[in-house]
Amino acid sequence: MASGQLSRAEALACSGCRHACHVMLYADTKAQLFGRIPIKHIILMQMRFDGLLGFPGGLVNPSEETLESGLSRELSEELGLALPISVEDHVDSCYAPPSSPSSSSRLITHFYVKKMDEEQIREVERAAASTAADHGLEVLGMVRVPLYTMKGGGGLASFLSHSFIGNARSQLVHSMLRLNLVAPGELHKALTHSLKTHAHT
Ligand code: APR
Ligand code: MG
Ligand code: MG
Repeated sequence: MASGQLSRAEALACSGCRHACHVMLYADTKAQLFGRIPIKHIILMQMRFDGLLGFPGGLVNPSEETLESGLSRELSEELGLALPISVEDHVDSCYAPPSSPSSSSRLITHFYVKKMDEEQIREVERAAASTAADHGLEVLGMVRVPLYTMKGGGGLASFLSHSFIGNARSQLVHSMLRLNLVAPGELHKALTHSLKTHAHT
């Protein structure tokens, strides 16, 4: 396991810690941008109330609910529908960097990935923009991640140059690699380009 990472059991053993669970929902698609650029996969993220990009999910209370039922509850609020999340969807757990030196209890973030059908993803997008209690408040909108690179360099590199909450950016990058959603060489180029873009803004 990489440094800073904990098993699910180790994480739950920390009674004084706060816990947050987030999930990457994704699907395969045959859709093509401009009728010629394959989109390949749909990955859902959200624009948060704080102007940062992140994954849907939030704080859970393991003394009252399991991590997975707490995550489902957060998804009902943020996406407007009940999505069952299971232990098998869990990817990793790690300590979040302390938000301020005075913050007393440490935050552990648990990350999940769930594959869906394209139609289920569309249903999530519809519900998130209509029935979700958090719509327009804690969640400003769902966004899809562009996984392609355009001739001028736009696409994934530009997306990665935005600002992300916590370790959401590295959760995204590692998931794209692990699930082979973007070719490693293309991802490497996008990462290099996004760092340059970031340095200029
Ligand atoms: N990786 C690591 N940490 C994250 C990630 C992520 N991908 N996403 C969010 N966090 C952190 C945030 O910094 C936050 O402190 O996890 C914590 C909880 O996540 P949220 O999704 O923000 O929590 P939620 O329960 O949906 O929102 C409730 O949390 O951020 C506060 O005051 C804010 O009212 C809000 C409350
Ligand atoms: Mg929430
Ligand atoms: Mg949240």
